[in-house]
Amino acid sequence: MILEEIMKRRSGRAFSDKPISDEMLNSILEASRWAPSCGNTQAWNFIVLRDPDVLAQAHEALSMGNAYAKAAPVMILVAAKEDGGCPAHNLPYFTMDVGLAVENMLLQAVHLGLMGHPTAGWNEDQLKELTGIPDEYRIVTVVFIGYEGAPAMLDERLQEKENAPRKRKELSEIVHWNAW
Ligand SMILES: Cc1cc2nc3c(=O)[nH]c(=O)nc-3n(C[C@H](O)[C@H](O)[C@H](O)COP(=O)(O)O)c2cc1C
Repeated sequence: MILEEIMKRRSGRAFSDKPISDEMLNSILEASRWAPSCGNTQAWNFIVLRDPDVLAQAHEALSMGNAYAKAAPVMILVAAKEDGGCPAHNLPYFTMDVGLAVENMLLQAVHLGLMGHPTAGWNEDQLKELTGIPDEYRIVTVVFIGYEGAPAMLDERLQEKENAPRKRKELSEIVHWNAW
């Protein structure tokens, strides 16, 4: 009953360094830009890193816990202006625009037989300086994309995480019918 890509998507850590074709990368970016956004503001920007020298420098900005992602051949920084979304309800809707675009990105990657992993563990100032992202933009997330590699490339702790089933709260905990 649920879309296959939604159920197959997971934030895996064992990336192969096999390159991704231009066609695949373009379709992933296309899928991202067709996401809905508040007032159609489309607050998202995608800074795609795949030059090996640039990637090597960007890897220095990753937290230790995200070192696994260095194998991925593509790193997409998703940046938006804090006032780039719509101003309704005094809520930071730019993050919602980005979130929706990123989910499209992840599902399209799964559709193509690839794996995408969104992250928050990196140094924003370092990545901004490296890529020249203007001061008024924030990096909301960094998505690693690549083919799935062999879990044996990960240390024991990460292999355990890699093989663990995905978990979610039960609907009964989060759905409120007609009233809270
Ligand atoms: C905004 C955001 C930030 C995340 N940051 C990290 C991260 O820094 N490192 C990491 O390994 N996973 C990160 N994740 C992945 C989550 O841990 C993962 O989505 C969650 O555990 C659910 O697992 P699943 O995506 O495999 O279903 C992040 C996910 C999101 C949406």
